[in-house]
Amino acid sequence: MSKARAGEGTVVIVPTYNERESLPKTIRRLRAAVPEAHVLVVDDGSPDGTGQIAEDLASELGAMDVLHRAGKAGLGSAYVAGFGWALERGFSVAVEMDADGSHQPEQLPAILEALEVRGADLAIGSRWVPGGSVENWPRHREVLSRGANTYTRLALGMTVRDATAGFRAYRADLLGKLDLGTVASQGYCFQVDLTWRAVRAGGVVVEVPITFVERAEGHSKMSRAIIAEALWRVTAWGAAHRAGQVRGIFRR
Ligand code: GDD
Ligand code: MN
Repeated sequence: MSKARAGEGTVVIVPTYNERESLPKTIRRLRAAVPEAHVLVVDDGSPDGTGQIAEDLASELGAMDVLHRAGKAGLGSAYVAGFGWALERGFSVAVEMDADGSHQPEQLPAILEALEVRGADLAIGSRWVPGGSVENWPRHREVLSRGANTYTRLALGMTVRDATAGFRAYRADLLGKLDLGTVASQGYCFQVDLTWRAVRAGGVVVEVPITFVERAEGHSKMSRAIIAEALWRVTAWGAAHRAGQVRGIFRR
Protein backbone atom coordinates (compact mmCIF):
# COMPACT_ATOMS: atom_id res chain seq x y z
CA MET A 1 0.00 0.00 0.00
CA SER A 2 1.44 3.38 -0.91
CA LYS A 3 1.66 5.92 1.84
CA ALA A 4 -0.78 8.80 1.35
CA ARG A 5 0.87 12.13 0.63
CA ALA A 6 1.10 14.21 3.79
CA GLY A 7 -2.02 16.29 4.20
CA GLU A 8 -4.21 14.34 1.78
CA GLY A 9 -7.76 14.02 3.12
CA THR A 10 -6.86 16.64 5.72
CA VAL A 11 -8.66 19.89 6.45
CA VAL A 12 -7.00 22.56 8.57
CA ILE A 13 -9.61 24.58 10.47
CA VAL A 14 -8.55 28.12 11.39
CA PRO A 15 -10.92 30.14 13.63
CA THR A 16 -10.62 33.90 13.25
CA TYR A 17 -11.74 36.98 15.08
CA ASN A 18 -9.96 40.18 14.01
CA GLU A 19 -6.89 38.59 12.44
CA ARG A 20 -6.53 40.70 9.28
CA GLU A 21 -2.75 41.16 9.55
CA SER A 22 -1.94 37.62 10.62
CA LEU A 23 -4.25 35.44 8.55
CA PRO A 24 -2.72 35.87 5.05
CA LYS A 25 0.81 35.07 6.27
CA THR A 26 -0.40 32.06 8.23
CA ILE A 27 -2.40 30.64 5.31
CA ARG A 28 0.45 31.14 2.82
CA ARG A 29 2.91 29.43 5.15
CA LEU A 30 0.41 26.62 5.66
CA ARG A 31 -0.04 26.10 1.91
CA ALA A 32 3.73 25.97 1.45
CA ALA A 33 4.26 23.57 4.37
CA VAL A 34 1.36 21.16 3.70
CA PRO A 35 0.20 21.80 0.11
CA GLU A 36 -2.25 18.87 0.04
CA ALA A 37 -4.33 20.09 2.97
CA HIS A 38 -7.67 21.82 2.45
CA VAL A 39 -8.24 24.98 4.51
CA LEU A 40 -11.39 26.09 6.32
CA VAL A 41 -11.48 29.50 7.98
CA VAL A 42 -14.31 29.98 10.51
CA ASP A 43 -14.79 33.72 10.92
CA ASP A 44 -17.17 35.20 13.47
CA GLY A 45 -18.07 38.34 11.55
CA SER A 46 -14.77 40.04 12.46
CA PRO A 47 -15.32 43.82 12.56
CA ASP A 48 -11.84 44.31 11.01
CA GLY A 49 -12.87 42.59 7.77
CA THR A 50 -10.96 39.31 8.25
CA GLY A 51 -13.89 37.46 6.63
CA GLN A 52 -13.44 39.28 3.32
CA ILE A 53 -9.67 38.84 3.45
CA ALA A 54 -10.26 35.11 3.89
CA GLU A 55 -12.61 35.07 0.87
CA ASP A 56 -9.99 36.83 -1.26
CA LEU A 57 -7.35 34.31 -0.18
CA ALA A 58 -9.70 31.42 -0.97
CA SER A 59 -10.27 32.75 -4.50
CA GLU A 60 -6.57 33.22 -5.03
CA LEU A 61 -5.29 29.95 -3.56
CA GLY A 62 -8.14 27.46 -4.07
CA ALA A 63 -8.79 24.38 -1.92
CA MET A 64 -9.99 26.76 0.77
CA ASP A 65 -13.42 27.64 2.15
CA VAL A 66 -14.74 30.21 4.59
CA LEU A 67 -17.56 29.71 7.08
CA HIS A 68 -19.06 33.05 8.09
CA ARG A 69 -20.88 33.22 11.40
CA ALA A 70 -22.95 36.18 12.51
CA GLY A 71 -21.00 37.24 15.59
CA LYS A 72 -18.36 36.25 18.12
CA ALA A 73 -19.67 33.00 19.59
CA GLY A 74 -16.46 31.53 20.99
CA LEU A 75 -13.62 29.29 19.90
CA GLY A 76 -15.48 26.15 20.99
CA SER A 77 -18.54 26.67 18.86
CA ALA A 78 -16.39 27.80 15.91
CA TYR A 79 -14.55 24.46 16.00
CA VAL A 80 -17.75 22.45 16.46
CA ALA A 81 -19.10 24.16 13.32
CA GLY A 82 -15.84 23.47 11.49
CA PHE A 83 -15.73 19.81 12.53
CA GLY A 84 -19.34 19.34 11.39
CA TRP A 85 -18.42 20.86 8.02
CA ALA A 86 -15.40 18.55 7.74
CA LEU A 87 -17.24 15.34 8.72
CA GLU A 88 -20.07 16.06 6.26
CA ARG A 89 -17.51 16.30 3.48
CA GLY A 90 -15.68 13.08 4.34
CA PHE A 91 -12.28 14.44 5.36
CA SER A 92 -10.30 11.79 7.24
CA VAL A 93 -8.28 14.21 9.40
CA ALA A 94 -9.25 17.60 10.91
CA VAL A 95 -6.58 19.96 12.24
CA GLU A 96 -7.02 22.89 14.65
CA MET A 97 -4.68 25.84 14.19
CA ASP A 98 -4.65 29.45 15.42
CA ALA A 99 -4.54 32.20 12.78
CA ASP A 100 -2.04 34.44 14.56
CA GLY A 101 1.23 32.65 13.78
CA SER A 102 1.60 31.13 17.24
CA HIS A 103 1.22 27.71 15.66
CA GLN A 104 3.92 27.28 13.05
CA PRO A 105 2.57 25.59 9.92
CA GLU A 106 6.06 24.15 9.34
CA GLN A 107 5.52 21.99 12.44
CA LEU A 108 2.24 20.51 11.20
CA PRO A 109 3.87 17.64 9.24
CA ALA A 110 5.34 16.29 12.50
CA ILE A 111 1.90 16.40 14.13
CA LEU A 112 0.29 14.65 11.15
CA GLU A 113 3.05 12.07 11.21
CA ALA A 114 2.01 11.04 14.72
CA LEU A 115 -1.35 9.97 13.26
CA GLU A 116 0.31 7.98 10.47
CA VAL A 117 3.32 6.48 12.18
CA ARG A 118 2.51 6.41 15.89
CA GLY A 119 -1.09 5.26 15.60
CA ALA A 120 -2.52 8.35 17.25
CA ASP A 121 -6.21 9.27 16.95
CA LEU A 122 -5.44 12.69 18.40
CA ALA A 123 -2.00 14.29 18.03
CA ILE A 124 -1.46 17.39 20.17
CA GLY A 125 1.22 19.96 19.43
CA SER A 126 2.51 20.36 22.98
CA ARG A 127 4.42 23.15 24.68
CA TRP A 128 4.87 21.25 27.92
CA VAL A 129 6.58 18.00 26.87
CA PRO A 130 10.39 17.70 26.52
CA GLY A 131 11.40 19.55 23.37
CA GLY A 132 8.34 21.80 23.49
CA SER A 133 8.63 25.51 24.29
CA VAL A 134 7.13 28.98 24.13
CA GLU A 135 8.74 32.08 22.61
CA ASN A 136 8.02 35.67 23.71
CA TRP A 137 5.08 34.66 25.86
CA PRO A 138 4.48 37.06 28.74
CA ARG A 139 5.33 35.42 32.04
CA HIS A 140 1.71 35.62 33.27
CA ARG A 141 0.48 33.62 30.27
CA GLU A 142 3.04 30.89 30.86
CA VAL A 143 2.06 30.70 34.54
CA LEU A 144 -1.63 30.56 33.56
CA SER A 145 -1.09 27.80 31.00
CA ARG A 146 1.10 25.68 33.26
CA GLY A 147 -1.29 26.18 36.17
CA ALA A 148 -4.34 25.33 34.06
CA ASN A 149 -2.67 22.15 32.86
CA THR A 150 -1.61 21.07 36.34
CA TYR A 151 -5.12 21.69 37.64
CA THR A 152 -6.61 19.78 34.71
CA ARG A 153 -4.33 16.78 35.27
CA LEU A 154 -5.24 16.65 38.97
CA ALA A 155 -8.98 17.24 38.50
CA LEU A 156 -9.43 14.76 35.67
CA GLY A 157 -6.63 12.30 36.30
CA MET A 158 -5.37 12.72 32.73
CA THR A 159 -1.72 12.28 31.81
CA VAL A 160 -1.75 14.78 28.91
CA ARG A 161 0.75 17.60 29.61
CA ASP A 162 -0.80 20.28 27.37
CA ALA A 163 -4.55 19.72 27.36
CA THR A 164 -5.31 23.37 26.53
CA ALA A 165 -3.16 23.34 23.39
CA GLY A 166 -4.86 24.53 20.23
CA PHE A 167 -2.58 23.02 17.55
CA ARG A 168 -3.74 19.44 17.03
CA ALA A 169 -4.91 16.83 14.54
CA TYR A 170 -7.88 14.49 14.98
CA ARG A 171 -8.77 11.40 13.01
CA ALA A 172 -12.32 11.88 11.74
CA ASP A 173 -13.21 8.42 13.11
CA LEU A 174 -12.44 9.66 16.61
CA LEU A 175 -14.27 12.99 16.14
CA GLY A 176 -17.34 11.00 15.07
CA LYS A 177 -17.37 9.31 18.49
CA LEU A 178 -17.10 12.49 20.59
CA ASP A 179 -20.77 13.48 20.56
CA LEU A 180 -19.98 16.99 19.34
CA GLY A 181 -23.64 18.03 19.55
CA THR A 182 -23.36 18.11 23.35
CA VAL A 183 -20.25 20.33 23.54
CA ALA A 184 -21.14 23.41 25.61
CA SER A 185 -17.61 24.82 26.07
CA GLN A 186 -17.37 28.23 24.47
CA GLY A 187 -13.86 29.42 25.27
CA TYR A 188 -10.45 27.77 25.41
CA CYS A 189 -11.69 25.06 27.81
CA PHE A 190 -13.04 23.56 24.60
CA GLN A 191 -9.53 22.14 24.13
CA VAL A 192 -9.66 20.39 27.51
CA ASP A 193 -13.23 19.26 26.82
CA LEU A 194 -12.24 17.50 23.59
CA THR A 195 -9.06 16.02 25.06
CA TRP A 196 -11.12 14.60 27.91
CA ARG A 197 -13.76 13.25 25.51
CA ALA A 198 -11.01 11.68 23.36
CA VAL A 199 -9.43 9.94 26.35
CA ARG A 200 -12.77 8.61 27.58
CA ALA A 201 -13.65 7.39 24.07
CA GLY A 202 -10.50 5.26 24.19
CA GLY A 203 -8.65 7.34 21.61
CA VAL A 204 -4.86 7.14 21.43
CA VAL A 205 -3.55 10.60 22.34
CA VAL A 206 0.06 11.48 21.46
CA GLU A 207 1.85 14.75 22.26
CA VAL A 208 4.35 16.13 19.76
CA PRO A 209 6.68 18.91 20.97
CA ILE A 210 6.16 22.29 19.32
CA THR A 211 7.49 25.80 19.73
CA PHE A 212 4.60 28.18 20.38
CA VAL A 213 5.50 31.69 19.21
CA GLU A 214 3.59 34.64 20.67
CA ARG A 215 1.72 36.59 18.00
CA ALA A 216 3.45 39.59 16.39
CA GLU A 217 0.21 41.35 15.36
CA GLY A 218 -3.29 41.76 16.69
CA HIS A 219 -4.49 40.83 20.15
CA SER A 220 -5.26 37.73 22.19
CA LYS A 221 -8.94 37.06 22.86
CA MET A 222 -8.14 35.53 26.24
CA SER A 223 -10.38 37.07 28.91
CA ARG A 224 -11.45 36.67 32.51
CA ALA A 225 -14.69 35.10 31.31
CA ILE A 226 -12.71 32.46 29.38
CA ILE A 227 -10.60 31.66 32.46
CA ALA A 228 -13.68 31.51 34.71
CA GLU A 229 -15.50 29.18 32.31
CA ALA A 230 -12.48 26.86 32.15
CA LEU A 231 -12.16 26.75 35.93
CA TRP A 232 -15.79 25.89 36.66
CA ARG A 233 -16.17 23.43 33.81
CA VAL A 234 -12.97 21.48 34.58
CA THR A 235 -14.00 21.39 38.25
CA ALA A 236 -17.46 20.09 37.33
CA TRP A 237 -16.04 17.42 34.96
CA GLY A 238 -13.62 16.36 37.67
CA ALA A 239 -16.36 16.12 40.30
CA ALA A 240 -18.56 14.06 37.99
CA HIS A 241 -15.61 11.80 37.19
CA ARG A 242 -14.76 11.25 40.87
CA ALA A 243 -18.42 10.60 41.72
CA GLY A 244 -18.50 7.98 38.97
CA GLN A 245 -15.37 6.33 40.40
CA VAL A 246 -16.93 6.20 43.87
CA ARG A 247 -20.15 4.64 42.48
CA GLY A 248 -17.92 2.09 40.72
CA ILE A 249 -16.27 1.10 44.00
CA PHE A 250 -19.62 0.51 45.72
CA ARG A 251 -20.94 -1.52 42.79
CA ARG A 252 -18.09 -4.04 43.06
N1 GDD B 1 -14.20 32.28 15.11
C1 GDD B 1 -13.68 32.62 16.32
N2 GDD B 1 -14.52 32.96 17.34
N3 GDD B 1 -12.34 32.61 16.49
C2 GDD B 1 -11.85 32.94 17.70
C3 GDD B 1 -12.66 33.30 18.79
C4 GDD B 1 -14.08 33.32 18.59
O1 GDD B 1 -14.88 33.63 19.47
N4 GDD B 1 -11.85 33.57 19.87
C5 GDD B 1 -10.58 33.38 19.44
N5 GDD B 1 -10.57 33.03 18.13
C6 GDD B 1 -9.41 32.68 17.30
C7 GDD B 1 -8.37 33.78 17.17
O2 GDD B 1 -8.66 34.70 16.14
C8 GDD B 1 -7.11 32.96 16.90
O3 GDD B 1 -7.00 32.60 15.54
C9 GDD B 1 -7.35 31.69 17.73
O4 GDD B 1 -8.76 31.60 17.92
C10 GDD B 1 -6.65 31.74 19.11
O5 GDD B 1 -7.03 32.89 19.80
P1 GDD B 1 -5.96 33.78 20.61
O6 GDD B 1 -6.72 34.89 21.21
O7 GDD B 1 -4.79 34.10 19.76
O8 GDD B 1 -5.55 32.74 21.75
P2 GDD B 1 -4.32 32.85 22.73
O9 GDD B 1 -3.06 33.03 21.98
O10 GDD B 1 -4.64 33.82 23.79
O11 GDD B 1 -4.41 31.38 23.35
C11 GDD B 1 -3.68 30.28 22.88
O12 GDD B 1 -3.49 29.50 24.02
C12 GDD B 1 -4.67 28.94 24.57
C13 GDD B 1 -4.33 28.29 25.88
O13 GDD B 1 -3.29 27.40 25.72
C14 GDD B 1 -4.38 29.45 21.87
O14 GDD B 1 -3.43 28.51 21.34
C15 GDD B 1 -5.59 28.69 22.38
O15 GDD B 1 -6.03 27.78 21.36
C16 GDD B 1 -5.22 27.93 23.59
O16 GDD B 1 -6.35 27.27 24.16
MN1 MN C 1 -2.74 33.61 20.04
